[in-house]
Amino acid sequence: MRRKFVAGNWKMHGSLKSNADLLREVRSGAAGLDIDIAVCVPYPYLAQVADLLEGSNIAWGAQDVSEHAQGAYTGEVSAAMLVDFGCKYVIVGHSERRTYYGDTDAIVAAKAEAALKAGLIPIVCVGETLEERERNVTAEVVTRQLNAVAERCGVKALADMVIAYEPVWAIGTGRTATPEQAQEVHALIRARVARDDASVAAGLCILYGGSMKPGNARELMAQPDIDGGLIGGASLVAADFVAICAAAR
Ligand code: 13P
Repeated sequence: MRRKFVAGNWKMHGSLKSNADLLREVRSGAAGLDIDIAVCVPYPYLAQVADLLEGSNIAWGAQDVSEHAQGAYTGEVSAAMLVDFGCKYVIVGHSERRTYYGDTDAIVAAKAEAALKAGLIPIVCVGETLEERERNVTAEVVTRQLNAVAERCGVKALADMVIAYEPVWAIGTGRTATPEQAQEVHALIRARVARDDASVAAGLCILYGGSMKPGNARELMAQPDIDGGLIGGASLVAADFVAICAAAR
């Protein structure tokens, strides 16, 4: 039985004050829940969030990482620097990075590899755009994105990663994939991995992300291949994030 995992992606939101308020409520609301929980926050707040979550059952992570170990890369943050702070997770290949910042499949694979090598758990995002779904190339796109990571890091390495299926058309739009639509792609991802390694596939944690809310979380996470959620907007509202975590049990 795979453990459920709910991760919040705050994106570029937060302040010292609002983070403290939000995490105080999330921390008490999520106490005792027997699932894995994490919040992925903007870099400047990593240390604050680490302090606020000390001794809780909530881990924390970053939202991106450099593919390079160190060097003349102004503005970048390395995986080793994140580990220095006690960071556990890092999101790589979020569609917003792919769309606005030029993260190609190859760069995403290199970032996943850099994260793994440093001891972080990469949360690798894959997902098709609306145009790709309408052209019926969802399977092709998701498989291509996944293959890039599997080929660079090796299929065995997927055992130390989390995959997040985030259909781009469902992110921040209020338009969620139906449980059936999401399950279909999750099953496809697991089957793709199973072709190379059945045991890695059976243990692989695959999250769904895209307008997951308290009202649809239970049904989505009840699907056989959906192991949890990567939550954007609803992770900024303590009661909603806690309700989604509770729905994952
Ligand atoms: P929303 O939950 O706001 O749709 O965002 C999903 C997401 O992109 C999480 O990474």
